[in-house]
Amino acid sequence: MSPTSRVRGGSPALGLCALLALSQSPGERGIGDPYFPDLGGGGYDTRHYDLVLEVDMQSRAIEAVATLSCTALDSLSSFNLDFQGLKVSSLAVDGEAAEFLREGRELTVTPAEPLAQDAEFLVRVAYAGIPVPVVDSSSPVGGVGWCSFESGVYVTSQVVGAASWFPCNDHPLDKATYSITVTAPKPYTVAANGRLVEEVDLEDRRRFTFRAARPMATYLVTVNIAEFEVIEEQGPRGLPIRTYHPVGASPRELAPFRRQGEILEFLETRFGPYPFESAGAVIAYEFLGFALETQTLVVYGRGMTEEIIVHELAHQWFGDCVSTASWKDIWLNEGFATYAEHLWTEHERGAEAAEYRARRTYQRLRRRRVGPPADPGVRQLFSDRTYQRGAWVLHCLRREVGDEVFFAILREWVRAHRDSAASTEDFIALCEARAERELDDFFAGVLYAAVIPPDARYE
Ligand code: ARG
Ligand code: ZN
Repeated sequence: MSPTSRVRGGSPALGLCALLALSQSPGERGIGDPYFPDLGGGGYDTRHYDLVLEVDMQSRAIEAVATLSCTALDSLSSFNLDFQGLKVSSLAVDGEAAEFLREGRELTVTPAEPLAQDAEFLVRVAYAGIPVPVVDSSSPVGGVGWCSFESGVYVTSQVVGAASWFPCNDHPLDKATYSITVTAPKPYTVAANGRLVEEVDLEDRRRFTFRAARPMATYLVTVNIAEFEVIEEQGPRGLPIRTYHPVGASPRELAPFRRQGEILEFLETRFGPYPFESAGAVIAYEFLGFALETQTLVVYGRGMTEEIIVHELAHQWFGDCVSTASWKDIWLNEGFATYAEHLWTEHERGAEAAEYRARRTYQRLRRRRVGPPADPGVRQLFSDRTYQRGAWVLHCLRREVGDEVFFAILREWVRAHRDSAASTEDFIALCEARAERELDDFFAGVLYAAVIPPDARYE
């Protein structure tokens, strides 16, 4: 319902003020994701988050202030943030105390004055407590969000974890820039997204400020606090690459990370320029069992391979710079990043090795009757359906349209949707535009059929 239709039928005797008041309505509780209906909120857009945290590494408690710069998309009487657990001590909108209500992960804010459509406003939330990970029905690895281990803190929030440590519009449809300031006791080092712009010595503590200058989805925001050592290198065109690693990590363990610059250089030849201001890695002390493509600074559990580094760096283009508009389209992230591994195999070990890999993928997908990548369901978001079969879509597309058109599609995808979000339908439309023909039958088989179509070449 549009604001105007809400007042239609109102008495003509109503004054302008009453009309304005009547036209205000609450923002939607979620942003409209079919898999996670509570995720995010409607009616407003976040532009920038300023997060300031003080962390006690003994008790693992935090004390924080989050300031969100937002724009009202509708006329709003109230709006909904995601925020779970921690205790809110004060909440103000444009400097005026606002009422708020908490219910599970929902934080409903009612400003003293309603917000006019298009108004820019600031939300300041002061809060404290010990963050705990959020249960995520899609997660193959347990709780997500702010995770505390013996060695320190690692933040990996895909899909619903960001709300474990800051109030946010928790969906990739609403990306924003970030300033992240964390104070931690010595000897801990803090690593977060973007560039380290300030480090201040406070006797027994240090304060680190990071700026992430390009829009970022909430689940890609990361803060890591441990006794890290740092390697600083340069990638293509002088791109700063920072690698935070456990003290005493062996040269052998670091060797694959030493190739980040080279890998980025290769990926640029296929995908176009690296989309952010910096790159790098956090190698956790713990064997987390996964990595997450946190923007500009990937978090890796210990013991990760060069291939996983390729995968996570490819996500910077596919998943981070271009976000999935809906979680059901996550093959646009995972299929692309997995296909980047095929490209790396081709580059490093040649066409034959890449073909061997394609055959293995084909046989696995056929033998296990792996279902379609699109719309996999919450519990198979991170499964063969989205990773292996997603990569298979791209392998087949390349054969269908030829190398030149295929790589033009990948580059155009990033150019057209950079810093934004896109859907499977957008991808199909782009492929058809570039190929200059309908690809209905092609996508019906690779993307939507219950099992991938037989391929004589790989039998
Ligand atoms: N997106 C990550 C990757 O493929 C996987 C993260 C899996 N864990 C999770 N909780 N979502 O690199
Ligand atoms: Zn991935």
